[in-house]
Amino acid sequence: MQKTARAHTNIALVKYWGKKDAKLKLPFNSSLSMTLDAFYTDTTFKLISQTDQNQFFLNNQLISFEKSQRVFNYVKMLQKRFQVEGNFVVSSNNHVPTSAGLASSASAFAALATAFCAAYELEVDKTELSRLARLGSGSATRSIYGGFVEWQAGDSDENSIALPISAQPSMDLQLLAVEIDTREKTMGSTVGMDLVVNTSPYYKTWIKEANKAVSLMKEAIKAEDFTTVGKIAQESALAMHALNLTAKPGFTYFQPSTIKGMQIIDELNHNGIECYYTIDAGPNLKVLTKLRNVKEILNRFKEELPNVKIIQASFGPGVQILN
Ligand code: PMV
Repeated sequence: MQKTARAHTNIALVKYWGKKDAKLKLPFNSSLSMTLDAFYTDTTFKLISQTDQNQFFLNNQLISFEKSQRVFNYVKMLQKRFQVEGNFVVSSNNHVPTSAGLASSASAFAALATAFCAAYELEVDKTELSRLARLGSGSATRSIYGGFVEWQAGDSDENSIALPISAQPSMDLQLLAVEIDTREKTMGSTVGMDLVVNTSPYYKTWIKEANKAVSLMKEAIKAEDFTTVGKIAQESALAMHALNLTAKPGFTYFQPSTIKGMQIIDELNHNGIECYYTIDAGPNLKVLTKLRNVKEILNRFKEELPNVKIIQASFGPGVQILN
């Protein structure tokens, strides 16, 4: 028995940064994202004979036993939850640069949770799928749905779930993923956020402000107010990265070109080309703008940062079972 699922990655417009429960991956604050059409993961979950070994393939390459532990442990945890068993092969093809702040773990765990449930013919709804994806990676919770998605922080496995806000938004919102550096990041998101939670004196303020930002963002989405959506997204990213500087020891994901990119966006905005940026746990920028401004922004980046690759994306769908 084997099933393949596709999940698109998502970019948080209001960031999740910090867990109050490491095992259940319960976040301290609610967050809000857009699911992207251009980046996705296809994952096949296959049940095999008990005499064969569990295997994990990433982009058609067999991954070592050691490096497969996160995936194996995740599948075993799901098997325990549903009281099913069997040896398995997981094959994942990422159409997202892995570990480069483009949230490949979000699409990866959303796709794996969906393929797993389909292979075992488990009757689960999307709310349950969002819980299962969360147990793999927090941000994966939101990749179950398309369009704009909220992840309600909650305080238990039951109520820490994703909710679709608008599955096919009519807002003209383009995202330009500026690939400053696609090498694997030096500090993973879990290590980074744990350090901040444990050592930043500003963490309580972050929680309060992030939850407030989710409410304001929902109003802006309802009013189709691109400007407010962009401004809140940029503020949330800046607050998260400022928080990193206040950890002990302080750290940053920014590289010189990240800051250069931020300056390009600020300058374009100043000159009437409306655009905003958001940045995750890596050096890459994601620019939020409207279709009519895309050309001008691309030209400006070509002049100032000629070596960076830029991929354009817009709203993508929720998880799908391919076959
Ligand atoms: O889901 P994780 O552990 O990869 O954390 C993702 C954290 C951010 O991407 C920086 C923010 C977010 O809400 O996705």
